[in-house]
Amino acid sequence: MRTASVKLEHTSYDIRVGPGLLDKTGEWLRELGFGGRLAVITDSTVRRLHGDALEQSLSAAGFTVAMLGGPESEAEKTLETAARLYQELTDFRAERATPILAMGGGVIGDVAGFVAATYLRGVPLVHLPTTLLAQADSSLGGKTAVDHRQLKNRIGAFYQPRLTVSDTDTLKTLPREQLSDGLAEVIKHGAIRDEAYFSYLEDNLDRILALDDECLETTVARSVEIKARVVEEDERDLGLRNVLNYGHTIGHAIETVSDFQMMHGTAVAIGMLAAARISNRIGFLGAAAVTRLSRLIERAGLKTGMPRLDAGQVLRAMQHDKKIVDGRVRFVLLRAIGDVFITDEVDPSLVEEVLTD
Ligand SMILES: NC(=O)c1ccc[n+]([C@@H]2O[C@H](COP(=O)([O-])OP(=O)(O)OC[C@H]3O[C@@H](n4cnc5c(N)ncnc54)[C@H](O)[C@@H]3O)[C@@H](O)[C@H]2O)c1
Ligand SMILES: [Zn+2]
Repeated sequence: MRTASVKLEHTSYDIRVGPGLLDKTGEWLRELGFGGRLAVITDSTVRRLHGDALEQSLSAAGFTVAMLGGPESEAEKTLETAARLYQELTDFRAERATPILAMGGGVIGDVAGFVAATYLRGVPLVHLPTTLLAQADSSLGGKTAVDHRQLKNRIGAFYQPRLTVSDTDTLKTLPREQLSDGLAEVIKHGAIRDEAYFSYLEDNLDRILALDDECLETTVARSVEIKARVVEEDERDLGLRNVLNYGHTIGHAIETVSDFQMMHGTAVAIGMLAAARISNRIGFLGAAAVTRLSRLIERAGLKTGMPRLDAGQVLRAMQHDKKIVDGRVRFVLLRAIGDVFITDEVDPSLVEEVLTD
């Protein structure tokens, strides 16, 4: 097991990563001082695959557990789902000290996190992420949200968990494309902050895809450490956190234009590659580094070819991104693998060029 800690102004917490950790969760919650009742928010797939392991661990530690059904997909990442969960928590007589455990992917983490942040003005939250995206990315950073109509993550709160337990055994039941999807964020972490980690991924990608215990643990833990350091410096997303948006400026626009039919990781992969090409065209990232990035993305099972999307439409979608400041699109670019910078001086025609390449 590897433990990373996140130290913020008002709180700090551990992220424990490794195989077989759901079994230990009950005991760790006791150590944190919890007892009595707790609520688990999960979806039917995750409950079927991993619910027993968690429930056994919790009941062995003496907890009375309510298993509540959270959103089954992004379409249910809504205030209506949150409202139903508030009612179920009320029926369960959940109190201020009753922890909510979010067991699942990013959709569960975002909604259960939002419910924990708002029910009784905040109850303790514990993340038990079960997708690679959730373990390596979404479960840390304190962002919780629901979608509002077509607007993703429009309503939410910053809310930190008391503990995060990333049991890497849960990744073994993930559909392959879901694993690839999470690898996009993992590759992003190496690309923006850590060349050595990027090389590690190049050397070990096949073992990661073969679900090797040690490689899964190392990969999740190193990604978490990279994101944790960024989050510690910019808890409320006021500046530095922008570096985590590498591949996301163009990626989000592509997702929007594809009407969210494309998977997030695929869109981010295309966005990372486009940003790398832009970096190269304006005299930064060398051609060999662009090739390294594209090879790794491809080996991860993510497509590197540009989809048949209208580049003009992608450009327009970019101008509407909620992260735009004063109408200028901010790009996260690379000087080298592991070395990132931000600029708003990219000619839109260049974006169009790399997108239609
Ligand atoms: N809060 C943040 O900082 C942040 C960051 C990135 C993404 N997100 C959000 O995360 C969401 C995407 O999360 P995701 O990619 O984890 O997708 P997801 O939560 O939709 O999960 C994908 C599917 O995998 C299934 N699943 C989960 N764990 C499994 C397992 N161990 N075995 C088999 N199947 C399993 C789920 O039932 C679901 O059907 C989006 O809503 C996005 O907005 C949030
Ligand atoms: Zn992302």
